[in-house]
Amino acid sequence: MLRYFQLILQVVLVLLVNDATQEKMFSEVPICFDIINCNVCHHNGMLLNVTESYSIFLSHLDIQNLSLVGIWENAFKNLTTTGLSFAEGNQISVVKKECFRGLPELSLLSLDNNLVPLSRHLFAELGGLTWLSLKNNSIDSIPEDTFAGLSNLRKLSLGFNRITAIRSNFFLIPSLYKLDLNNNEIIEVPPYAFSALTQLAFLNLEHNKLQKNFTTDSFRGLNQLISLSLNNNNITSVSGGIFRHLVKLFILLLGHNQIGILEPGTFKNLSHLRSLFLQHNKLTHLTVGIFDGLTELRNIYIYNNYLQNITADVFRGLNNLQSLSLNENRITSVTGSPFRDLVKLEELLLQQNEISTLEPGTFQGLSRLTYLNLSNNKLSYIVVGLFAGMFEMQSLDLSYNNIYTIDPGAVANLINLHNIILVGNNVTEIAMKCPVLLKSAMQSAS
Ligand SMILES: *[C@@H]1O[C@H](CO)[C@@H](O)[C@H](O)[C@H]1NC(C)=O
Ligand SMILES: *[C@@H]1O[C@H](CO)[C@@H](O)[C@H](O)[C@H]1NC(C)=O
Ligand SMILES: *[C@@H]1O[C@H](CO)[C@@H](O)[C@H](O)[C@H]1NC(C)=O
Ligand SMILES: *[C@@H]1O[C@H](CO)[C@@H](O)[C@H](O)[C@H]1NC(C)=O
Ligand SMILES: *[C@@H]1O[C@H](CO)[C@@H](O)[C@H](O)[C@H]1NC(C)=O
Ligand SMILES: *[C@@H]1O[C@H](CO)[C@@H](O)[C@H](O)[C@H]1NC(C)=O
Ligand SMILES: *[C@@H]1O[C@H](CO)[C@@H](O)[C@H](O)[C@H]1NC(C)=O
Ligand SMILES: *[C@@H]1O[C@H](CO)[C@@H](O)[C@H](O)[C@H]1NC(C)=O
Ligand SMILES: *[C@@H]1O[C@H](CO)[C@@H](O)[C@H](O)[C@H]1NC(C)=O
Ligand SMILES: *[C@@H]1O[C@H](CO)[C@@H](O)[C@H](O)[C@H]1NC(C)=O
Repeated sequence: MLRYFQLILQVVLVLLVNDATQEKMFSEVPICFDIINCNVCHHNGMLLNVTESYSIFLSHLDIQNLSLVGIWENAFKNLTTTGLSFAEGNQISVVKKECFRGLPELSLLSLDNNLVPLSRHLFAELGGLTWLSLKNNSIDSIPEDTFAGLSNLRKLSLGFNRITAIRSNFFLIPSLYKLDLNNNEIIEVPPYAFSALTQLAFLNLEHNKLQKNFTTDSFRGLNQLISLSLNNNNITSVSGGIFRHLVKLFILLLGHNQIGILEPGTFKNLSHLRSLFLQHNKLTHLTVGIFDGLTELRNIYIYNNYLQNITADVFRGLNNLQSLSLNENRITSVTGSPFRDLVKLEELLLQQNEISTLEPGTFQGLSRLTYLNLSNNKLSYIVVGLFAGMFEMQSLDLSYNNIYTIDPGAVANLINLHNIILVGNNVTEIAMKCPVLLKSAMQSAS
């Protein structure tokens, strides 16, 4: 019985000792293992060292799922890798400048999804870096000179952080080509915020808290900018010439904001602009002169606003426009011949509005139009002459209106039409008045 008890005691002791040694192993003995040709040692969440065991060209090293909390100084022993990522399964919060020595070839560094606190000269050892990604690090401020020394940096991603303010000395990186600041909490773009970024081509400020306090100098200096995204903010106004320095801009995204009015001249100097996105705003009407100066514009997206009427002259001078989306508004009237300058327009989207009448001449000038969608409106008849001159039209959607009459003469000139959609109208009535049309509609439907 005693022996039996002793045995149990021994077992318990062994178990206790085992537990203790495991504890010890965790706290005292580093863990080393190989990833491709690299030996990686870490200890209590700190990355101790990374050595290349033999020399093969290593383009990218992923150090992941180690629950790292920090990187030791001089941990990298002259690695030849050009890419390094800690983006998954770590929570690095202990880093300083000295951690990034020994990476002479490094071009790409991802510290995404960590808790890296920025500090002065943090990346100064990484002069060859071209792409630095710091997404999702709970960063709320950017100390001065954080990016000092990154003289080759082309792309910087700071998306999904908590940055509330930006200042003109944050981004002193003249080589920068692409800057992502999306999904932060930025409330304003102060004057000269990006003025050092003379090479910048892409600026992403989507999903922030911008409202209306831009100044004429907010975007000053960005005269190589190609794309500016301000989508998904709370912007109520973009007037006052805030875009006038963006003379090379190709794409301007202002969708999903609260813009209620656009003043004439807002886009005046954007003579290279190709695409303008204004969807999901609160525009109630388009003032004549808004689009002046946009001579190269190809696409305008104004769907899902509160537009009520489209008046003559609003689209004046847009003679390179190819696509115009006015769908999902509250348009009841289209007066004059507002599309007459749009001689290259191929696509016109007017569906989901409240248009009840369209006079002959409304579509005057649209000789290249191939696609017209008038579905989900309140049209009751199609008048002769409405589609005059629209010889290129291929697809015409008139579905879900209250149409009971289409004069055969109204569609006779649409010689290239191969798709007409009439469902959701009084088809029996149309059949009696215009049997030819109905036949072609039936054919295209089958
Ligand atoms: C890396 O760290 C481990 C564990 O501390 C150590 O045994 C090894 O010598 C270190 N290697 C280098 C090259 O410093
Ligand atoms: C890290 O863990 C995630 C989720 O468990 C897994 O999908 C991924 O492949 C792992 N990465 C590496 C390099 O082991
Ligand atoms: C790294 O390389 C430099 C220069 O080639 C050399 O002076 C240094 O000793 C090397 N360090 C290590 C840890 O191998
Ligand atoms: C941010 O990182 C955490 C892990 O550190 C992850 O759980 C979360 O999904 C990430 N969020 C985004 C938006 O990527
Ligand atoms: C935008 O404004 C609306 C109403 O004014 C508010 O409910 C919403 O939280 C704001 N969104 C942001 C991102 O600030
Ligand atoms: C910008 O707008 C925000 C929100 O309305 C406000 O808190 C801030 O003081 C404004 N800044 C300036 C310079 O007007
Ligand atoms: C607008 O563009 C013209 C021609 O490129 C230029 O002379 C003028 O200075 C620009 N206006 C502003 C306010 O930048
Ligand atoms: C168009 O709508 C605006 C705003 O609702 C209104 O001020 C203007 O008079 C309207 N124009 C026409 C021709 O109906
Ligand atoms: C016209 O717009 C409606 C949306 O109201 C859409 O369902 C339909 O597919 C469009 N027609 C064509 C021919 O694309
Ligand atoms: C459709 O037209 C037929 C024939 O003119 C008419 O009898 C019927 O009432 C109309 N239906 C509707 C819903 O307007």
